[in-house]
Amino acid sequence: MNRRTTALSAAVALTAALALTGCSSSSSEAAGEGSAKDGKPHLKVSGAFMPQPVMDMAGGFLTITNDGDTADKLTSVTSALSDDVTIHETKDQKMREVQSFDIPANGELTLARGGSHIMFMELKERPKQGEKVSIELHFEKSDPIKVDVPVEATNYNPQHH
Ligand code: CU
Repeated sequence: MNRRTTALSAAVALTAALALTGCSSSSSEAAGEGSAKDGKPHLKVSGAFMPQPVMDMAGGFLTITNDGDTADKLTSVTSALSDDVTIHETKDQKMREVQSFDIPANGELTLARGGSHIMFMELKERPKQGEKVSIELHFEKSDPIKVDVPVEATNYNPQHH
């Protein structure tokens, strides 16, 4: 984990930028008691934010809670901010694109600094702290969800353990 590779790439540099504060992310299962049992995922988005970008790229973070008894998948993200939005996981301090993220039944998917995230490349503009970026989350089963993502300070990192 602590060994640094000498290979320089945009991806490595960007991972470092996104991991500015080395908070270890912890995810807690939000097992709801009164979860719906209608065979569908029930998704809710919370804690969304985008650190104010310092380059023409940005990261997005949020938590998706599934109170339903059926799993779903986050399959893509779209936004007017960028035509190149992908979802990444981080392993051994390197990030790589994934096709989808699992959202377990009666569980949650957490996108947080140093871990999985949404990646916006070739920004059409650089949003400032206090502004909001409109994004749309797309899922395997559930209808798309629109989220107005607040832009926070570049080093913002909420501690919700
Ligand atoms: Cu990334």
